[in-house]
Amino acid sequence: MAETFYLTTAIHYPNGRPHIGHAYETIAADVLARFHRQMGREVRFQTGTDEHGLKMAQKSRDLGQTPRELADEMSGYFKDLFATLDISYDRFIRTTDEDHYRASQAIWKAMEANGDLYLDRYEGWYSIRDEAYYDESELIEGEGGEKLSPQGTPVEWTAEETWFFRLSAYGDKLLKLYEDNPDFIRPESRRNEVMRFVEGGLRDLSVSRTSFDWGVPVPGSDGHVMYVWVDALTNYLTGLGYPDETENMAKFWPADLHLVGKDITRFHTVYWPAFLMSANIPVPRQVYAHGFLLNKGQKESKSLGNVTDPADLVNAYGVDVLRYFLLREFSFGQDGSYSAQAIVSRANSELANSFGNLAQRTLSLLFKNCEGQLPPINDATADDDALRQHVERVIVQEMPAAFTDLAFAQALEAWMGAVFACNAYVDAQAPWALKKTDPERMKTVLATLYICIAQLAVAVIPVMPASMGKLLEQMGITPDLRRFDAIRTHWYPALVDSNFHLEKPQGIFPRLELPETPSEESA
Ligand code: MSP
Repeated sequence: MAETFYLTTAIHYPNGRPHIGHAYETIAADVLARFHRQMGREVRFQTGTDEHGLKMAQKSRDLGQTPRELADEMSGYFKDLFATLDISYDRFIRTTDEDHYRASQAIWKAMEANGDLYLDRYEGWYSIRDEAYYDESELIEGEGGEKLSPQGTPVEWTAEETWFFRLSAYGDKLLKLYEDNPDFIRPESRRNEVMRFVEGGLRDLSVSRTSFDWGVPVPGSDGHVMYVWVDALTNYLTGLGYPDETENMAKFWPADLHLVGKDITRFHTVYWPAFLMSANIPVPRQVYAHGFLLNKGQKESKSLGNVTDPADLVNAYGVDVLRYFLLREFSFGQDGSYSAQAIVSRANSELANSFGNLAQRTLSLLFKNCEGQLPPINDATADDDALRQHVERVIVQEMPAAFTDLAFAQALEAWMGAVFACNAYVDAQAPWALKKTDPERMKTVLATLYICIAQLAVAVIPVMPASMGKLLEQMGITPDLRRFDAIRTHWYPALVDSNFHLEKPQGIFPRLELPETPSEESA
């Protein structure tokens, strides 16, 4: 039976259209899903929208809509964007889906049966923007002296009767979880933060609301809806069929990876494992908190007028350029700043000029000088072997290890190193000049390059599925070969012996121009 891998993104609030942060997280998750599939694993990948809570209720009221109407409209935009971004999810969950109510109520009942829920009165600070309760001691002061959440969002005093979850009973169990599983929270800096928070002592958590009704009803408690994070986190189980003992639950739970942004680490590494322990459900294997994406150093916001629709970036640069850029440019656990300039220069130097040009030059020479027939390799030299070994090392060891570790930038750095090595080899061997002086040698050089290009293309399918598919199609590399292990073996002689004929090659990465830029950019 194939090894399984279940990964999820956070589910996105559909209180507005999707932005670049949503695209970034979902692309990264998609690259991992494709990578693990390519390694032969049975992958399940879930994403979706988080549709309950006060934030949605208020936003829809402001717009004169029902929350359901707002959620329907906005979740449609998320789905459309994910299609544009080539996201290969297995389920797009909406927390208003019927099976999700059932799952949320089931986990609630399991926590209640364990004695972890009790009714009391809550008084304290709540941030609607974060959908989070904060302790007085966590608040910071705004410019006008007003109280703000640690994320800098407004908070309001809340007082109501609510159900509490006995989080205070889970401190030691959580600390043991982190200690026994050093990879449960990554990166390390986030793990330290969470450990300090838990060591500071946990208070019981308010987990229901009575002041509005846009949520999952608390079973047997009229007038109460669940705190939005209780139902939101449960989405990861709903998608597998919980509470039924389904085949997917048996196969995919506990989740291998919850991929989330750094702002919601606490919910995933403190509340969620505590809820699960209470309900007697195994905890996920890992939560990875990635960094935030900034637009030229600033957070995108309506008030700054710098909100970018990710679909516009796709239209301007192409989906694979955007996917490549986002994973290549930034260290995944850290914040990063993007700009049109950075996208164009990365795409031109690495995709158009380096890899694209390498493929185009090699395939064109084969097309023109060998009538599209693939030549066999005769008498490989030490240079040929050294290049082949470099590329193999990168695709067999370095890239899979880096992808497994979510070190996307490092995987692509190793890939680029191999592309540079191929280009240096082309320049040194000058196959165009060999046509007259030593045609046999020319063939061996082109064949060596052909193998390397195919291998390098296969290794970046997870990042650039559409363009690599197009290139590999032209090269006669059938889908069964498009795996890390399969592309190592002796497919080349078989392809040479088959009736494969190379057509006139089509470029895959055009050079990009910088769009008309506002004057501040040239300043
Ligand atoms: N609905 C909650 C998550 C519930 S998960 C059970 C939520 N939604 S969100 O729409 O605000 O954010 C969705 C994801 O996008 C989160 O992981 C968040 O960290 C991430 N990002 C939001 N803005 C981002 C950037 N600017 N950059 C990178 N990721 C960011 O939180």
